[in-house]
Amino acid sequence: MSIEAANWAYAEDFVEEDRVVLEARDVADELGCVPVLPGASRAIQVLAKAMKATTAVEIGTGAGVSLTYLLRGMAPGGVVTTIDVEPEHHKAARRTIAAAGFAPERARMITGRALDVLPRLTDGGYDIVLIDARKSEYPAYLEHAMRLLRSGGLLLIDNALWHGRVPDPAQRDKDTTAVRETLKAVREDERLTIALLDAGDGLLAAVKE
Ligand SMILES: C[S@@+](CC[C@H](N)C(=O)[O-])C[C@H]1O[C@@H](n2cnc3c(N)ncnc32)[C@H](O)[C@@H]1O
Repeated sequence: MSIEAANWAYAEDFVEEDRVVLEARDVADELGCVPVLPGASRAIQVLAKAMKATTAVEIGTGAGVSLTYLLRGMAPGGVVTTIDVEPEHHKAARRTIAAAGFAPERARMITGRALDVLPRLTDGGYDIVLIDARKSEYPAYLEHAMRLLRSGGLLLIDNALWHGRVPDPAQRDKDTTAVRETLKAVREDERLTIALLDAGDGLLAAVKE
């Protein structure tokens, strides 16, 4: 194993996950939706806590793994508006956050296609936007995120390295190209202070001016 791979594996396992999250990962596996990996999940929690966030938008609920980490990081009473096209995923996520001890009103679950739902959300109304749904739609999600974030708000993009495909110029499939295009737009946006973390499958973190 290379030093980089060993470092990555060590960092991913550095904080042990609890039973609630491990069960949610099993459910996600059954439903066929891949959750945010442990290292990136933990980074999300830490950043949400540092922000003292009270409002967040999550694009891609899945079985509620990243939702749980967001809620664990956010200020008491903080609410996550979380969007998913699959009602079954929302049911699973509801069970996950209940098992984690959060009241149902801490997650406002909107079932629908993200690009239909996002235009209905309030401009400048959110401390955090986490992008983790359809890769080919990442560029459009980014445009909405920039509108939804308040000044000083935090943008998080999961799968920013997309299984090692984003850094490899030979990979030109639709999803990889869309994630790469999104990273380029983020890098060129002077309103954003950015860091590309290689936690999990890559987590892009950026603060909006
Ligand atoms: C990678 S999973 C999200 C995992 C979740 N963030 C977690 O860590 O547990 C992606 C989710 O996006 C949802 N999804 C896919 N296309 C979508 C779309 N166009 N609009 C809304 N949700 C979508 C899928 O149903 C799936 O639950």
